[in-house]
Amino acid sequence: MSVHVQNTKMTTARLRAMKQNGEQISVLTAYDFTLASLVDEAGTDVMLVGDSASNVVCGNAYTLPITVDEMIFLTRGVVRAAKHALVVCDMPFGSYQVSEEEAVRNAVRILKESGCDAVKLEGGEDILPQIKHMIHAGIPVMGHLGLTPQSVNQFGGYGLRAKEKAEADKLLHDAKLLDEAGCFSIVLEKIPAELAAQVTKAVSCPVIGIGAGNGCDGQVLVLHDMLGLNQGFQPKFLRRFAQLGEQVKQAVGEYITAVKDQTFPKAEESY
Ligand code: KIV
Repeated sequence: MSVHVQNTKMTTARLRAMKQNGEQISVLTAYDFTLASLVDEAGTDVMLVGDSASNVVCGNAYTLPITVDEMIFLTRGVVRAAKHALVVCDMPFGSYQVSEEEAVRNAVRILKESGCDAVKLEGGEDILPQIKHMIHAGIPVMGHLGLTPQSVNQFGGYGLRAKEKAEADKLLHDAKLLDEAGCFSIVLEKIPAELAAQVTKAVSCPVIGIGAGNGCDGQVLVLHDMLGLNQGFQPKFLRRFAQLGEQVKQAVGEYITAVKDQTFPKAEESY
């Protein structure tokens, strides 16, 4: 299938226009130059340097350990690859919760030192002062509600969020606050599809879903999961668009055999 790739760089204004025109927004995570180049060339609208890098790049069980310095290091490579996509960097746990000043200082650092276009942070009303300060400072902010993995210790796991009316009402309220504060987009993670569709209709900014059904303005997946590189992880919402993990293992196995039996390198592969 061919995808129409825009030559010009994606902007937050264009993402808003896509919502208004009913055009779905494609978002994928990216953490390094090589894969980000492929993701960008394929025509993805937004590349998110997610703090899921803590899991898929660093091998941690949670997103919490990754630092601002590590996020900046990874984001630089993605920014160098991005000819088209808007690049959003996740603000890691602890970098924005303490105070408005610290949130702005860390977001400014991330933008200046990585060259990314925007930041994402998890939470609603609790972090509204930080979000407002960041937006007043000219920093484009993407919100993130529902299952917010930085709060895993509070939630006690990665289960579906907002099943009960009280939590669903709070989520809708938070989404409206983020929208009114000026967030250019909101991610909704692992919530009932009906609620996600309701939030999408209630706010003016584009809503990007992950495990939130198809009533949102766009979708996001973790690249390593959708490529089948991350084989142990299979939640219901995850569609694997490739099985690269199997292909990598097979190729590496063939390489090992060829090295051991000395069929690699051949004469024509030597100088
Ligand atoms: O860190 C991440 O990859 C994310 C996406 C799953 C939305 O926040």
